[in-house]
Amino acid sequence: MFRLLICFFMCWIGSRTEEYTNPIALQAPDPWMEYYKGYYYLVATTWTSEVGIRKASKLSDIFNVTNTIVYSFDGHTLWAPEIHLIDDRWYLFYSACAPNTEDYDCHRNHVAQSASDDPMGPYTFMADLDDPNDQNFELDPSYIIINGSQYLLGSYVADTQNLYIRPMVNPYTPEGPKYILSTPTYDWEEQGKTVNEGPEPLYHDGRIFVVFSASYCDTPNYKLGLLEFVGTDPLNSTHWYKYPDPVFQRSDDNHVYGPGHNGFFKSPDGTEDWIVYHANEEETQGCGMERSSRAQKFTWSDDGLPVFGVPDALGVTLEGPSGE
Ligand SMILES: *[C@@H]1O[C@H](CO)[C@@H](O)[C@H](O)[C@H]1NC(C)=O
Ligand SMILES: *[C@@H]1O[C@H](CO)[C@@H](O)[C@H](O)[C@H]1NC(C)=O
Ligand SMILES: *[C@@H]1O[C@H](CO)[C@@H](O)[C@H](O)[C@H]1NC(C)=O
Repeated sequence: MFRLLICFFMCWIGSRTEEYTNPIALQAPDPWMEYYKGYYYLVATTWTSEVGIRKASKLSDIFNVTNTIVYSFDGHTLWAPEIHLIDDRWYLFYSACAPNTEDYDCHRNHVAQSASDDPMGPYTFMADLDDPNDQNFELDPSYIIINGSQYLLGSYVADTQNLYIRPMVNPYTPEGPKYILSTPTYDWEEQGKTVNEGPEPLYHDGRIFVVFSASYCDTPNYKLGLLEFVGTDPLNSTHWYKYPDPVFQRSDDNHVYGPGHNGFFKSPDGTEDWIVYHANEEETQGCGMERSSRAQKFTWSDDGLPVFGVPDALGVTLEGPSGE
């Protein structure tokens, strides 16, 4: 009887899943999340000259923790920070403007490095990552590793807003110029403005994907599209296949508008894939700090493609990541 009771208790602890509700953070556009050594780390746009990280051991606790400042820079309008662990250091990629510059087209991509393998930093500035021979309004830096080679990803504004890919020796040393990765071609990439931005690497079963945000963030039709590397040369855009339909978009039923600019993370036990993204509650809330961070689990189709489903409504109790 005693043993049975112990099992009853232990088994209940073992199978219990934590719950959470969206949003997971307010005032947190362009979210990026990592689960590392027992903690979640959420980093997002601040629109200031500082980068903050929210750290918690449970997804539901992110909401109320302090956004601890881990890095300050001489400039303004921080957008779209991401942290990537490469060779035992975290690299903080971000877009920001230099001091005494105006308008958003002053944005360029930069990288800072952590002092150790602690995601909380501190971080030190390492490099400006804009291509000196191809100066544009650049934003949304990310990083992808393909067959052992490293590449910077990003978005730039020319006649239209495209994605780029650039070969790197390491996270702070470019190996060559930037190359176009994707340009808007479908109607669903041209709502409000023609935009491809927020490229995010996604690896699955040996396949390489880039999920990106399409259309203008000021509209409720901002959404996610999918690219897959199907050739041999990552710097050649014809070696990437763009799926003809968007993979994640508004849900009027759930009052979720403009879901996009995402990141990916694993559940604590490593068995589940999760997406973190921002969205608005109202159709007209636009591209600012009103956008909140949300997270949800996603699955894979029999064809090996990500299935993100429909963005969940705010305030609904959801099962937390496995292993919390
Ligand atoms: C955050 O803190 C407030 C005030 O203590 C509390 O009412 C709320 O439930 C907390 N939210 C979460 C998600 O823990
Ligand atoms: C991966 O890299 C190896 C070694 O550089 C090369 O031989 C191989 O062709 C590459 N594979 C692809 C798919 O590019
Ligand atoms: C890009 O790939 C296509 C198809 O393999 C090829 O025809 C073209 O020459 C490549 N372009 C460059 C610049 O390598």
